[in-house]
Amino acid sequence: MGGAEGSSAREMDEVNEAFIGCVQASTAIVRYPLPGTRWRRGVQGRARLEEFFRRYLPARRAHEGDDLFSVLCHVESEDGERFSDDDVVNHMIFLMMAAHDTSTITLSTAMQYLGQHPEWQQACRDESEALGTNTPTFAQLDQLTTLDLVIKECQRLVTPVPGIVRRAVADTEILGHFIPKGTLINVGLHYTHHMPDLWPDPEHFDPGRFSPERREDRVHKYAWSPFGGGAHRCLGMYFSGAEIKTVLHHLLLRYRWHVPADYVAPMNFTSLPFPNDGQPIDLRVR
Ligand code: HEM
Repeated sequence: MGGAEGSSAREMDEVNEAFIGCVQASTAIVRYPLPGTRWRRGVQGRARLEEFFRRYLPARRAHEGDDLFSVLCHVESEDGERFSDDDVVNHMIFLMMAAHDTSTITLSTAMQYLGQHPEWQQACRDESEALGTNTPTFAQLDQLTTLDLVIKECQRLVTPVPGIVRRAVADTEILGHFIPKGTLINVGLHYTHHMPDLWPDPEHFDPGRFSPERREDRVHKYAWSPFGGGAHRCLGMYFSGAEIKTVLHHLLLRYRWHVPADYVAPMNFTSLPFPNDGQPIDLRVR
């Protein structure tokens, strides 16, 4: 590759690396940019991302497109207030993690488990073929009910946001444990999704556990909570469902894929989970 195309691919690699630096810094214990630390890679990554979005910002301000970056540049409140450049850049960086990384984690997990369970892959494909369209509407996506079960089970098994952090605003007590005001608390979503007290055979891929007849998630209000809970529950929950289903719908129609049944992804849980080996898949055009 050469010329502008080459430099743009290089830029994407750099931005990707900067992004990974930011995501991984979120769980750093040493929060000072000493050389060689995760925090430093995060600070440098953050600066690179800011520079990246700032460079493309004037063009987005100038033309009203329908992509999220452009919409954030043009959206206006009833009183005519608009986002400042800093606001737009901050939202874009936040959304790379909150919207993009979480959805791609779910997609990779689904690729793995559907590759290991051809019967589920075919059941999802049958539903996709029955839709008879490459461009499903929201209502048509609702008909992909088997895919719903698969996605829920994937988000249980590999929880895209493994834990969320809160600070106690007052002295309180949880299950008999005293929590003083100011304490940081990690709510272990991934841990909860694997608790044998809540889930029969929790390590087993079994999308049917979410079927109307079984609804194993009903054992507790927060047994299944990949999108968090309460006032700050994920704003993109329904959007992400439509996005993930659309991508999987396309993949199911075009490809067939296989992953060995005994494959265990070497997961890296430094921050949001990802497989250290790049997750090999045998993907073939149908
Ligand atoms: C599979 C995909 C996704 C998962 C698993 C996920 C997970 C989460 C979780 C666990 C939270 C709560 C964080 C907390 O309470 O501290 C959250 C918040 C949020 N998510 Fe998502 N998310 C996903 C996709 C998206 C998408 C696609 C968008 C936007 C298009 C989005 C936007 C947000 C926003 C704005 C918040 C903050 C809400 C608030 O603080 O009031 N998310 N998400």
